[in-house]
Amino acid sequence: MATVLVASNRGPVSYVLGEDGSLDTRRGGGGLVSALSTIDSQESLWVCAALGEGDREAVRQGVGEPGVRMLDIPPDMYADAYNGIANSVLWFLHHHLYDIPREPVFDAAFRRRWDSYRAYNRAFAEALAAEAAEGAAVLVQDYHLALVPGQLRELRPDLRIAHFTHTPWASSTYLRMLPTDIREELLRGMLGADRLGFHTRAWAAAFTDCAGASGLGRSQVAVYPLGVDADELRALAHRPEVDEKLTELRAEVGDRKTIVRVDRTELSKNILRGLLAYRELLTTHPEWRDRVVHLASAYPSRQDLESYRAYTAAVAELADEINTEFGTADWQPVLVSVKDDFTRSLAAYRLADVALVNPVRDGMNLVAKEIPVVSETGCALVLSTGAGAYEELKEDALTVNPFDVSETAEALHTALTMPPSERADRTKRLSSTATSLPPQRWFLDQLEALRD
Ligand code: F6P
Repeated sequence: MATVLVASNRGPVSYVLGEDGSLDTRRGGGGLVSALSTIDSQESLWVCAALGEGDREAVRQGVGEPGVRMLDIPPDMYADAYNGIANSVLWFLHHHLYDIPREPVFDAAFRRRWDSYRAYNRAFAEALAAEAAEGAAVLVQDYHLALVPGQLRELRPDLRIAHFTHTPWASSTYLRMLPTDIREELLRGMLGADRLGFHTRAWAAAFTDCAGASGLGRSQVAVYPLGVDADELRALAHRPEVDEKLTELRAEVGDRKTIVRVDRTELSKNILRGLLAYRELLTTHPEWRDRVVHLASAYPSRQDLESYRAYTAAVAELADEINTEFGTADWQPVLVSVKDDFTRSLAAYRLADVALVNPVRDGMNLVAKEIPVVSETGCALVLSTGAGAYEELKEDALTVNPFDVSETAEALHTALTMPPSERADRTKRLSSTATSLPPQRWFLDQLEALRD
């Protein structure tokens, strides 16, 4: 029986099914993985969902990693819960993404998907209840599993339960779009936890506003702003393959300045307005033509959803337009990479003169924290007020309203012209704030508070 349990939709490992039926194991990185490595693996268990056919086959064959239990949820139920509710409803609510004249529509089909979401949460709650030792600590992650705390509390009142939200939390006006009974079920699910964690004070306050301060009951709300592990990140950024990529990028960029962005192609990341701002920069400040390159990594995400496919195509189209409008025989203004290529991203981080992080709304945004830590000559950070990281980094960033393309274009100009000494000073302070709560500390602080 485990004494520390983590539950998340996406687990630390996944399996790819080969044509010959063999299973190839892929281990993921990320904050939770390194955080959990501090706990004795005899004591801990990570419960996650089987995401694809490879994972399902691994569960069927009994293949697995010690300390990880994958749940083989029926594929239709899983698709309805993950794509139909978590990604298309809860993600859209928390990031304020709806195109209001058309969406959302809460009809009978939505109710059927919600039943799947409840059942998928229930599968997690039952697995956790079966695996947890008496009085164990259970740390549930994210909007996929918002009902688990309440369901688990009913099954195992002895457990200490925490839930952490990695996204923003919706404003109360936005959350009120949900049918009343569903909104109440969602909040009751969350409020089954002893402790509810958020990345920023703003998201914690939004939750409290939705729940009503008096409705919190036993749940305590706390803020843990996840940061980066400086040593680990610098070591990753100085591997030989990153050096090689850096040489290639330097050859493409020449002695021009760089504006760097790295995102999943995700509706909330505001990549289109970022490109529009770059186009406006080249129009209102023509002196930057042929003197700057925009390195944009925009790797595909959630391509099962039509709105994401359309957005990905629109990003590529706009980048092409800018290149056609301004490009010359030896200057390509935007270099877009659509591959999920962490090595290239780290090389771009090292090369960054300016980092552009302009999400409309974002739980934290670790890219805003990572670039200052590894940029070689110091970078000026253009940061949206909608990023969770804004709360901690606003003093040393150039902050912009994510909807104001002209303001963003002007901030890019200010960033590009920032004197090197000012840039270095700001980067030093950004980097120190960014590394103040590395993943292991972030996790252990929550675990200690939960056990107290
Ligand atoms: O931002 C919250 C988060 O859970 C991230 O941790 C993660 O990158 C993403 O949302 C979920 O992505 P996916 O749907 O690809 O698992």
